[in-house]
Amino acid sequence: MRKAFLSIIAGCVAFTVAAQTKITLNTDLAKTQISKHIYGHFAEHLGRCIYGGIYVGEGNTKIPNTAGVRNDVIQALKDLKIPNLRWPGGCFADTYQWKDGIGPKANRPKMVNVWWGGVTEDNSFGTHDFLDLCERIGAEPYLAGNVGSGTVKDLTDWVTYVNHPGGSPMSELRKQNGREKPWNVKMWGVGNEAWGCGGNMTAEYYANIYRQYATFMTDWDNSSKIYRIASGASDGDYTWTETLMKNIPHKMLAAVALHHYSVLSWTDKGPSVDFNEGQYFKIMEEAWQMDEFIKGHSTIMDKYDPQKKIALIVDEWGGWYNVEPGTNPGFLYQQNTMRDAMIAGLTLNIFNNHADRVRGANLAQIVNVLQSVILTNEEKILLTPTYHVMKMYNVHQDATLVPINIEAPTYDFQGKKLTAVSASASKDAAGTLNISLTNIDYSKPHEVTINLRGEDFSKVSGQILASAKINDHNTFEQPNKVAIKDFAGAKLEKGVLKLTIPAYSVIVLNLKK
Ligand code: AHR
Repeated sequence: MRKAFLSIIAGCVAFTVAAQTKITLNTDLAKTQISKHIYGHFAEHLGRCIYGGIYVGEGNTKIPNTAGVRNDVIQALKDLKIPNLRWPGGCFADTYQWKDGIGPKANRPKMVNVWWGGVTEDNSFGTHDFLDLCERIGAEPYLAGNVGSGTVKDLTDWVTYVNHPGGSPMSELRKQNGREKPWNVKMWGVGNEAWGCGGNMTAEYYANIYRQYATFMTDWDNSSKIYRIASGASDGDYTWTETLMKNIPHKMLAAVALHHYSVLSWTDKGPSVDFNEGQYFKIMEEAWQMDEFIKGHSTIMDKYDPQKKIALIVDEWGGWYNVEPGTNPGFLYQQNTMRDAMIAGLTLNIFNNHADRVRGANLAQIVNVLQSVILTNEEKILLTPTYHVMKMYNVHQDATLVPINIEAPTYDFQGKKLTAVSASASKDAAGTLNISLTNIDYSKPHEVTINLRGEDFSKVSGQILASAKINDHNTFEQPNKVAIKDFAGAKLEKGVLKLTIPAYSVIVLNLKK
């Protein structure tokens, strides 16, 4: 809803007080769990994500590492509490030969990464390296299987290699390679973008292929621990989702994926840092589209699965821009500004509020690629604004969603309008109410009034991510320019919370009884 803005002229300084955002939180009606897996990440063999970003090799004496994985990255990911990590792609997954990435590293065959830069990789980061990393950081692994160029046997061998307790040729091979116990990987992607880089299949063809693969990707004790995720639609391709929901027996299908990137235009994605307001607005428009796409795909899923047994997993999302000048165009390396913090805050609010159907998501990609939470340069590391938002929001992981009513002003640009303030809230196991707010407005702060219905709270604290300019970002020279700060600007009185949220900022409030 459009609200009026009041401009106050004080001397020569003009500032604007925006109209109210009115929120009601029905704390007594909270019932749906926000799956922690909404806060998942994605590690692809793409550019410097794996090699240089995560893995620097066991013999590296310059960059401190554990089994070749950077210690600073391990620590940053532990601090972030990442619930799951998808690997090895993306498009890369449908070219990956997992058997080339096991056994003594010196004997592993090399490969050419045909999707990303045509570079030669030595397979030194393989299945053991990835699964051990997941154990180290406490994340559940999500393996994306090669359906596009692999075989049913390859993929079922991979399942057996990582999950079978013992006595099978694959589990014995795993033991020979130094891992006695299985990793018990639950989350398996049956291909990736089967409509595109994963094989250019029709939905009908993929649905059949899926049935075949899913039949043989099995548990050995019939406990259905394997969680099969079908390669999903891009954006608003509802026919794809409908075909899968109609043609795949639901007992074989734990989840259907969805991919949506916030992109200016696929021919010129614009700069990651020096963007103008027009480019900013368009990216925010794209980010808001996530809400529309989730509603559209959910409506179709509801038709075939009214009890919502099958999840929608947005296993690729984020902002996608032109690569940084002077870097390899195939490596997709981009900087990360307050604009990305806006995409993250808004998108996570959308996911939380659709927690009944969206039970997983993976931000692309974790280090040195698209909307990364970490950037590295040799021994240097920085945490991006997106990292900070993911960290602030991790209070929602596995908490109970609080139903929200929100009436918010719009952010207007050249006759177009977007809702400026988004929010979501949850109650955690200790009874703390956590409220996340994101104001995507390019220039206006907004006043927010939150009515707390159903329960009484007496204490409020909070954190804010804000910066002087929308293009602000962290660099290796200034890694803490954008950082989380305490926020004491929320006033709680008689069940009503009042605050002002600055332009392009994210606030998370914590309320206790
Ligand atoms: O994230 C980059 C690429 O985007 C992924 O490899 C692919 O799945 C998607 O098209």
